[in-house]
Amino acid sequence: MDIALETKDVTKIYRQGGIEVVAVEGVSLSLEAGMVLLIMGPSGSGKTTLLSMMGCILQPTSGTVRVDKGVVSGLSIDLLPDIRKKYFGFVFQSFNLFPSLTATENIEVILRLKGWKKADMRETAVGLLDAVGLKQRAGFYPRDLSGGEKQRVAFARAMAGDPAIILADEPTANLDSKTGNSVLELLKDMAETFGKAVAIVSHDPRAEALAHRVVFLEDGRLRQ
Ligand SMILES: Nc1ncnc2c1ncn2[C@@H]1O[C@H](COP(=O)(O)OP(=O)(O)OP(=O)(O)O)[C@@H](O)[C@H]1O
Ligand SMILES: [Mg+2]
Repeated sequence: MDIALETKDVTKIYRQGGIEVVAVEGVSLSLEAGMVLLIMGPSGSGKTTLLSMMGCILQPTSGTVRVDKGVVSGLSIDLLPDIRKKYFGFVFQSFNLFPSLTATENIEVILRLKGWKKADMRETAVGLLDAVGLKQRAGFYPRDLSGGEKQRVAFARAMAGDPAIILADEPTANLDSKTGNSVLELLKDMAETFGKAVAIVSHDPRAEALAHRVVFLEDGRLRQ
């Protein structure tokens, strides 16, 4: 299977007010197209830090991240946004929707960043909302959507522009069990039907049931 992303010995040390925190230490793992990788571990064990390095949001202190066979670590920080745009869709626990934009516009913003032409954006954005069952909410602002609906808009937005790699940090944490299920099913579908490489950070036992591979972090290290 194609390896979409690979980390080799990645370490992240935060330096904050004279204190050093080794948040992630020497983690090597690979993420393949068509598979769901679940990252588990206690609070503070480095899951979000690891996912952020995988998604080229954070630069590792040492070690390398390869995306699509190219080394990303060590590249100029200016190049990282382009790599993120080209390869990644992100789903966060806190949704991060723009409050002043409708559901459709929240998706169009991402398409515009990815260089889409205005004429093609509306239909694609509404199509993505339709795929998550929210076509009827296309013109709604985030404040008028329920938590689960916001999460589904965020999910649709992560799919905008058809990214090869989807990274989700606690995507079900704020959802009721039914909505949580449907978000997990969507993520699984992205891997199994559309061949995406999917990495999820979650404590949710249902995520464990659908993952193809599960790794545990403990104090920043992979438990063997
Ligand atoms: N910007 C930062 N500066 C300093 N320390 C940080 C920073 N971000 C995270 N940390 C520390 O790094 C460690 C790992 O944090 P991280 O957010 O990766 O954990 P996590 O496994 O995602 O936890 P949770 O399950 O609570 O979300 C924690 O001890 C945290 O306090
Ligand atoms: Mg976290």
